[in-house]
Amino acid sequence: MAKQVIDAEVLANHKLNNKYFILLIKPKKKLELIQPGQFLQLTVPNAPEVFLRRPLSIHDVDYENNTISLLIQIVGKGTQKLSLLDKGNVVNIIYPLGKGYSNIEKGQKALLVGGGCGIAPLLYLAKVLKKEGIDEDIIIGFKSKEDIIEYELYNSIAPTFVTTEDGSMGEKGYVTTHSLFSSLNMYNKIYTCGPEVMMKAVAKRAKEAGVECEVSLENTMACGIGACLCCVTPTVNGHQCVCTEGPVFNSKELLW
Ligand SMILES: Cc1cc2nc3c(=O)[nH]c(=O)nc-3n(C[C@H](O)[C@H](O)[C@H](O)COP(=O)(O)OP(=O)(O)OC[C@H]3O[C@@H](n4cnc5c(N)ncnc54)[C@H](O)[C@@H]3O)c2cc1C
Ligand code: FES
Repeated sequence: MAKQVIDAEVLANHKLNNKYFILLIKPKKKLELIQPGQFLQLTVPNAPEVFLRRPLSIHDVDYENNTISLLIQIVGKGTQKLSLLDKGNVVNIIYPLGKGYSNIEKGQKALLVGGGCGIAPLLYLAKVLKKEGIDEDIIIGFKSKEDIIEYELYNSIAPTFVTTEDGSMGEKGYVTTHSLFSSLNMYNKIYTCGPEVMMKAVAKRAKEAGVECEVSLENTMACGIGACLCCVTPTVNGHQCVCTEGPVFNSKELLW
């Protein structure tokens, strides 16, 4: 798929809580087909100190209205600046980037596991799987009840289960301590995104249960197109660029 470098207008900036917000953007050209798990890189406008584009997962796509939504966590100066964007502002994006999650067959069952803002690529994935008639369950894990975002939205697509570390909502503990993990072999594939330590734990449990597992890496990136090599990760096939060979990898490919 040819990459587009294009301006996009901010249609809305919806604050979810003090950590997360959703940016709804409308590219000024008809949307290309986007694979779940792919990402974009965007400029941070009016911020000369934020020189490099920032990589963000495609959270949702609306081809009819020609919009993309991004779920963003404020962590540093770039995401802080993005959180201040308003309707009418313009960002420049390069998309679609990377290789996304692979499909499973009709009749098979998927488990989607997300932690924190790692739930971002799982919304569009869940919608696409549902459209293809795939049965799916979703587990989303957060530190505490106050951090939980978009539960109703995910639950409107597929049965969604919550874990919190302090037990303030859903099952107490980590995503991998959720009771569904005691019967992982009812799934044909696990798709996950979140902190690396969480994905490693998910991949380990998947391996023990003999279930395929795809993980989405969030290595620090500069160019996003395979030119600077700053995002490489060791794999069974040697060092690979996460921005072009990933961000999604089968966990068996990684030297975890
Ligand atoms: C393929 C991909 C998809 C991503 N999707 C999303 C998404 O959908 N939503 C979202 O909120 N974030 C996502 N990220 C992470 C996001 O790109 C970073 O949080 C962002 O670039 C930080 O920019 P900043 O200027 O705010 O922070 P900086 O000022 O650059 O850094 C501030 C702090 O954040 C840490 N940080 C920087 N980059 C990353 C990173 N890649 N991962 C974790 N910590 C980082 C730094 O170590 C530092 O401690 C994704 C990253 C990748 C590679
Ligand atoms: S970010 Fe430059 S090669 Fe991946």
